[in-house]
Amino acid sequence: MSQNETKTILSGITPSGKLHLGNYFGAIRQHIQMQEQGDAFYFIANYHSLTSITDGDEIRQNTYDIALDYLALGLDPEKCTFFAQSDVPQVTELAWILGTFCPVSLMEKGVAYKDKVAQGLSPNIGLFTYPILQAADILIYNSDIVPVGQDQKQNIEICRDLAGKFNHNYGGDYLKLPEEHIVESVAVVPGIDGQKMSKSYGNTIGIFDEGKTLKKKVMSIETDSTPLDDPKDPESCNVFALIKLFADQEKQDEIAGKYKAGGYGYGHAKKELLGMINDYFGDVREKRRELAQNMDYVVDVLREGGEKARERAEEVMDPIRKITGLFHTHKYEENKAGKKKMIEAISKHYDI
Ligand code: ADP
Ligand code: TRP
Repeated sequence: MSQNETKTILSGITPSGKLHLGNYFGAIRQHIQMQEQGDAFYFIANYHSLTSITDGDEIRQNTYDIALDYLALGLDPEKCTFFAQSDVPQVTELAWILGTFCPVSLMEKGVAYKDKVAQGLSPNIGLFTYPILQAADILIYNSDIVPVGQDQKQNIEICRDLAGKFNHNYGGDYLKLPEEHIVESVAVVPGIDGQKMSKSYGNTIGIFDEGKTLKKKVMSIETDSTPLDDPKDPESCNVFALIKLFADQEKQDEIAGKYKAGGYGYGHAKKELLGMINDYFGDVREKRRELAQNMDYVVDVLREGGEKARERAEEVMDPIRKITGLFHTHKYEENKAGKKKMIEAISKHYDI
């Protein structure tokens, strides 16, 4: 590939609950920045969410919530392709094929599967083979760069592994191996209990939380019991870890100074953080409310994105059907030459 060739950037977000600050600083912010840097494809991974949610209304609602969130946060459908995974059925088609190249032992090493089962999710086959569907998501668009957090590293390695096995078997570069692109600029964002902020731990601060809900969450961030007058260590404080996400260096230094000087309580720091969150997300909350009044537009964005994504997916899938010996007879209606070629190919094996 030449240096100047536009790279395809791809990432997905699972609609399994409300987006939180961990998602924003760990993933979404990079997605939005990267729409300027290549041919970006971002999708809402609703097939994946079936591994943990079996209520159709909930998945539909979450999907549109995430679409609104991303658009409000600055995703621009003129600059990238934004769509729902289920609008590209080729993805599940490729996932099946990749699964036939995937040793069971490779899935058994999956860390995310074990974690999720330990958290109480049902150990279903969909959850077990989740990385195969994720590999198909990546490979079906010939993706070059996949911006994801550290926790997704293993899934990208599995993707490369499966693509390599497939290409080796059929003797050609049918599937493009993506580069790894782990977003490491942000450390793990802590939740209100100090553990990693995660939907599954119920310790999140939502990007679109506001008013009393937001205040209650911020005020309940766990801190130690150092008395107000004593000096405090900012680096071991959950509130300060969150402040760092919003404040520039100068402001961070100023607040760290107050911690160390004493006479500055965790309540003060929490108020400061609350103000920062409100300032940072004030405008996007407003934008989200406006967009929610115009769902027609949101549906159109996903529909148009889906069309574009399907076209791209078909370009990859068509040669794969051929090389693997699969076919779609319903297409011969429009493709008479294809039908003739097919009959010639199979006729070689019969005495006719
Ligand atoms: P959750 O743990 O809430 O279920 P997901 O696993 O759906 O979050 O994560 C979606 C994206 O957000 C991933 O790319 C992940 O790396 C990032 N992410 C999630 N939580 C955090 C966190 N606490 N800190 C940094 N990044 C995070
Ligand atoms: N597994 C990803 C997550 O939990 C979501 C996802 C699904 C994804 N398919 C993908 C991310 C393909 C990148 C590429 O965050």
